[in-house]
Amino acid sequence: MCGIVGYVGERQACPVIIKGLHRLEYRGYDSAGVAVMHPGGGMDVFKCKGKVSDLEHFLEGKDSAGTIGIGHTRWATHGVPNDANAHPHLSRSGKLALIHNGIIENFRVLRDALRTHGFTFRSSTDSEVLVNLIEYVRESEKCSLEEAVRVALKQVVGAYAIAVIEEGNTSRIIAARKSSPMAIGLGDGEYFLSSDAASIIDYTQDFVYLNDEELAVIEKGKPLHIMNLDGKDTPVSIQKLNLSISQLEKGGFDHFMLKEIHEQPETLEDCIRGRVIPETLEIVLSGVIENKEKFLAARRIIFVACGTSWHAALIGEHLIENMCRIPVEVEYASEFRYRNPVIFPDDIVIAVSQSGETADTLAAVELARKAGAFVYGICNVVGSSIARSTDSGTYIHVGPEIGVASTKAFTGQVTVMTMLALLVGRLRGTVEEGYYHRVAQALLELPATMREALKTADQVAALAKTFTYAHNFIYLGRGYNYPTALEGALKLKEISYIHAEGLPAAEMKHGSIALIDAEMPTVAIATLDRTYEKTLSNIEEIKSRGGKIIAVVSKGDDLVRHCADYCIEVPSTVECLMPLVSIVPLQLLAYYIATYKGRNVDQPRNLAKSVTVE
Ligand code: AGP
Ligand code: GLU
Repeated sequence: MCGIVGYVGERQACPVIIKGLHRLEYRGYDSAGVAVMHPGGGMDVFKCKGKVSDLEHFLEGKDSAGTIGIGHTRWATHGVPNDANAHPHLSRSGKLALIHNGIIENFRVLRDALRTHGFTFRSSTDSEVLVNLIEYVRESEKCSLEEAVRVALKQVVGAYAIAVIEEGNTSRIIAARKSSPMAIGLGDGEYFLSSDAASIIDYTQDFVYLNDEELAVIEKGKPLHIMNLDGKDTPVSIQKLNLSISQLEKGGFDHFMLKEIHEQPETLEDCIRGRVIPETLEIVLSGVIENKEKFLAARRIIFVACGTSWHAALIGEHLIENMCRIPVEVEYASEFRYRNPVIFPDDIVIAVSQSGETADTLAAVELARKAGAFVYGICNVVGSSIARSTDSGTYIHVGPEIGVASTKAFTGQVTVMTMLALLVGRLRGTVEEGYYHRVAQALLELPATMREALKTADQVAALAKTFTYAHNFIYLGRGYNYPTALEGALKLKEISYIHAEGLPAAEMKHGSIALIDAEMPTVAIATLDRTYEKTLSNIEEIKSRGGKIIAVVSKGDDLVRHCADYCIEVPSTVECLMPLVSIVPLQLLAYYIATYKGRNVDQPRNLAKSVTVE
């Protein structure tokens, strides 16, 4: 998600905040804003859609003087990017200003409850509900601001890093976090606050990182006071930073792509949070539930997508046909839009797009709508063109993906498709209850499973050194892992510039096996599934022709290692989620080969993060 910055001390707050927000823009932005407390105690909020530079322009000529303030660059999750939905959000009285990084999953319940107490809302964000909940607690309990924040947060389900200031108090910021990052910089008679220390490293090297469910009372001239949500004081541990600013922007990783590969456990936690109910394993996707009739009546589902999103859609085909028994077609959007396709009114067209701006996919959406199909979006960027063009949809909530090579968006897309298939399968009565529960439980365990898969990083980094010579690669997979093979090949191609081809493993026999020799390495995904033995035979066929094989295998596999040259063991989970696990070493393999070859991993040649042209 996006970025927050706060300041209290002797300097003018606005310049510190604006500079910090610029530093955080890599985390994605669609709107920005700042709340500043004037010396006399009056508070002003300045916010607008667009970049931080647009906010700077908006501030020109306005009185933004003051030595305490909070600022935010938004990456929308609830409510399209516009001025009203930009942060900071004011409470009903206008006396509290709040900025929020994250997702309040139960904001609808909280908002409905506040409405019964006469609260109204200016925005459609989840964050505005929180600032009013804090005000409601403050008024009804007649307590301190920090107590009101603490009590309010006990009612919140979701992720947050927040900062709150109160009109009239020119020396205090209340901050708190859960799942979203929050760093507090300690200066000489001044405090800084940020989602990422990078944005405030110019002023201090001493930081305190709030832990989950901790709340900080940050008061000029007083020691930092930190407590947990039960009100119990917690120790203040100051850490010195010795990272370069450019590294800090990448969370300590050398490239955004590596950071985004490693943050997949957290991003999938965000993707699943509030959508798989742990106590009941119920799936809650409002886009599906609100259009239940469409999914019950659907006689065909057509995916339209490009690139990595198209690979995710191929997995979606397996998921939906397997669980919902609805025929599925997967179309390259660029082909679909021009071949005068047959589209029926009872078709559901699902557009998959990380950026939500891919021209071909947007055109395919418009074609489908004209033909009367119900169009559903699976996007990452809230309020993007494709998201706004569809009848409904589900955001993958993996946060801004900066690396051109898509990684966390792919796993987020497949995770949403799995939840959609489970929910629609249950609605249509086509998914066996025991299977449903196994898959839903495996989804809840997915972040831990992904952490386990990421433990292959060092082995893959070492292995990658052996293959920088290659000019061609073949990737093989079957079933759910055939699209994984395609995705692994694309990752290698687009960042290392080594040609790579993904194939269904059995397809090798029909021609491509002629390519096999000692110079043509093969990556084979041979995890334990219904076609494991067949894939094993394909590996033997390659081995017998002198091919070098890197096999992705299930942890503890003792068979494949007798014929593969290298085995990368990944944890097991239900078969339909194995693409999410198998793709991790393939993402890492592409990353390390490209890095060793000195490629510009985050911005590979000839590519763009979003292909908004044909
Ligand atoms: C994947 O790594 C590439 N960046 C590219 O294939 C991308 O998936 C494709 O351009 C589609 O982008 P979208 O998901 O934003 O629509
Ligand atoms: N969920 C909040 C919103 O949509 C905050 C998003 C963010 O982290 O920028 O406004």
